[in-house]
Amino acid sequence: MKTILVTGGAGYIGSHTLIELDNAGYNFVVVDNLVNSSIESIKRVEKIIGKSIPFYKVDLRDTKALENLFVKHQFHACIHFAGLKAVGESIQKPLEYYHNNMTGTFVLVDLLRKFNCKNIIFSSSATVYGNSDVVPYTEDSPKGNCTNPYGKTKSMLEEVLTDLQNADQNWNVVLLRYFNPIGAHPSGEIGESPNGIPNNLMPYITQVAVGKREKLGVFGNDYNTPDGTGVRDYIHVVDLAKGHVAALAAIERNCGLGIYNLGTGCGYSVLDVVKTFEKVNGVSVPYLIMPRRAGDIAMCYSNPQKANEELGWRAELGLEEMCRDSWNWQKKNPEGYEK
Ligand code: NAD
Ligand code: UFG
Repeated sequence: MKTILVTGGAGYIGSHTLIELDNAGYNFVVVDNLVNSSIESIKRVEKIIGKSIPFYKVDLRDTKALENLFVKHQFHACIHFAGLKAVGESIQKPLEYYHNNMTGTFVLVDLLRKFNCKNIIFSSSATVYGNSDVVPYTEDSPKGNCTNPYGKTKSMLEEVLTDLQNADQNWNVVLLRYFNPIGAHPSGEIGESPNGIPNNLMPYITQVAVGKREKLGVFGNDYNTPDGTGVRDYIHVVDLAKGHVAALAAIERNCGLGIYNLGTGCGYSVLDVVKTFEKVNGVSVPYLIMPRRAGDIAMCYSNPQKANEELGWRAELGLEEMCRDSWNWQKKNPEGYEK
């Protein structure tokens, strides 16, 4: 069985991906410094898959500690989720974000090369398309100017990994541009567990629904969209997780450099999400229209055709399932993992 190194595997998307890797017959080793996650997520995944998971609490920038893992295990490929991801915080703490995301990746990739594991899947983001409103985005859409350090780290790391693959064709580099992951594993055992006040729409909605917050603030209703609120391409985290297994299959075929949008191709507005959540779950989500949030764009959704055709991957779950599973997780875990 092939062993995959999963960085950031205790996090939201990483933990869901572990289950899909197990379903697909891969072994894996997880490295995470738990800066934005809890060891509880690993325990829950162990419960779901009925196996214990080799876990190392290591910061990617700790070269020595990370190298020990490579000495101990032989990796076939790496799925690299580890990184800091809060847009607003990245504006306040640029140095921390650049250092964590860039240096962490440099140390990791250098060790992958040293130990001749030249297969990497990188968590990129639709944010690399910048502030362009020309939707849907295809992989050929121009990369835009990211307005924040978080987005810049994603865009720059895409360039770094592309240059690496250009310089040495033995590398397989798959850059996955995620759109807006929401939802949770249907068991309700794992899900998104943000620290403090959620920045993102769905965790905010679930916290209002569960009574932790009074009202959702809807950031602007005067955008040029069907109902005036922002439109995004929400994707079920389980579908997203399966996209990584499809990317591993592409690596088996020696894909070289591959860049893929992982989205559904459907755009939903903030109010579509609120109304669908209320309908499928039978709960109410009071909201208040607020001013626009700085840096937001009207519409962002994907054309996922390239991933459909080349990876044989397609998002299967719709907005109703996303809303149902997000609520199932929140209801069962009102305090998240209680970090
Ligand atoms: P997450 O914060 O839940 O998971 C990231 C994990 O990386 C956390 O467990 C954190 O503790 C760990 N980590 C961070 N820095 C580390 C370091 N230096 N060493 C070791 N571990 C470290 O985030 P997520 O939502 O699961 O996102 C996973 C990846 O996908 C991230 O790279 C993120 O930027 C990217 N992404 C996320 C979204 C989204 O909306 N969730 C969208 C696009 C891209
Ligand atoms: N929104 C609200 N109220 C909230 C939170 C969000 O109205 O309390 C709105 C936003 O204005 C936006 C939509 O809901 O129209 C989605 O907002 P999110 O914060 O959930 O997601 P974003 O699309 O702004 O950002 C996400 C990730 C970023 C990533 C970006 C592009 O959080 O990391 O997608 O991929 F960069």
